Amino acid sequence: MSLSLKKMLDNYRISHEVGFAMDRPSPTSFKNASLAPWIDIATQIPNLLKSNTLRSRIDSLPILSADLLDPDSIEEYHLAFVLLTHLSQAYIWGTIGVDAPSSTLPASISVPLVQVSRDLDIQPAFCYAAGTIWLYTEDATTHKPRCICSFTGTSDEDHFNLTTHNVERIAGRALVVGLTAARCAGSKQSDELTRCLSSMADILRECRTALVDMKTGCSPDVFYFQLRPYLSGSQAIPGGVLYQAGANSEEGDGTGVKYSMPGATAAQSPIFQALDLILGITHTENSGRSQFVEKMRKSMPAYHAQFLEDLKSLPSISQFIAGSHSVELKTAYNDVVGALAAFRSEHVQIVTLYVLSPSKRSQKPNDKDDNAPKQGSGGSGDLFALLKGMRDDTKASALNL
Ligand code: HEM
Repeated sequence: MSLSLKKMLDNYRISHEVGFAMDRPSPTSFKNASLAPWIDIATQIPNLLKSNTLRSRIDSLPILSADLLDPDSIEEYHLAFVLLTHLSQAYIWGTIGVDAPSSTLPASISVPLVQVSRDLDIQPAFCYAAGTIWLYTEDATTHKPRCICSFTGTSDEDHFNLTTHNVERIAGRALVVGLTAARCAGSKQSDELTRCLSSMADILRECRTALVDMKTGCSPDVFYFQLRPYLSGSQAIPGGVLYQAGANSEEGDGTGVKYSMPGATAAQSPIFQALDLILGITHTENSGRSQFVEKMRKSMPAYHAQFLEDLKSLPSISQFIAGSHSVELKTAYNDVVGALAAFRSEHVQIVTLYVLSPSKRSQKPNDKDDNAPKQGSGGSGDLFALLKGMRDDTKASALNL
């Protein structure tokens, strides 16, 4: 990799090895011990939800300032964001089947959450970065991957998050290769471009295998009935959620600000959007797919969304290859596109298994209405039309030989 490429990725806080994923485990404690209550409560979420005491614990928590975070450690800010967004989701949705959702988030969570989010340049709500990327850490003694905290306390939830992080890490390896491929297209280096495309196809095939691994440790019923409710966004609550202001706040009318945000979904992962842009795979506007993709960027850290925007000025691999007479290049390009389409086909099957099937099983025999969810946690309209459409857009990008 060239030095200029390395510097460019550093500027966007992207790893050269694993893209948008974590190349090091997140910390699990803060230097300043005054912030320990966030850790204590967030790591006990499953028990506090079971005993129905989570909301009272948070209600009695003092407002701790994000100014207590170590300004030299962005990892501490990531940790704070993970803990505060998990606490906010657990508070809003409460004990499933017992509590009604809360349309107010107390100032003990909302004030530091808004503060940390401003520093990280991200919306103050639970999202893919909090639920997957920055959630990843390692056990101090065994060095096995684990999650910082959890909603359900099940191994299924850990497996769901760690599998997703693993796919993100593997796919992240395709980023530097893809950027190198775009440079090769710009400088018409066909041999090196073919090698890069072949390597990208191999990585995407690995991603598909890693995605299938979801089935080895995460039960569809645990995902659908226990975990999925906590992935929902405040936009699922009519009128949204009021983030209470602290004393002396000048925000809103003094009581706080209402937020109506999508929930967490891997559609907020920047890597698949980046690969689409690098490969020249477009999603049509009249289908609503390109608007969905744009909307998901609002839930990413702003510097990653900016990276995606800036990718639009790369030399176009697909145009260069379409204009060449090389069957070898066209075959290599179609191989990558085919591997990405196969990943998306596998993903449709996973969503059928984890969303459609449990929802159908929960339907009572006399139900006249089909109660299968039409929306994903990210708020996609008809989620199957969206996912199959993204897959078909990918297939349609293949070039005629
Ligand atoms: C049980 C596992 C999974 C389920 C139930 C699931 C569900 C969904 C749903 C419902 C959507 C539609 C958007 C929305 O949420 O509103 C979606 C989109 C998406 N998911 Fe997943 N997902 C799973 C695992 C993964 C994994 C492991 C990845 C890879 C890191 C992934 C990557 C994506 C991407 C990139 C999109 C955007 C559509 C596209 O680019 O094709 N998903 N997912």
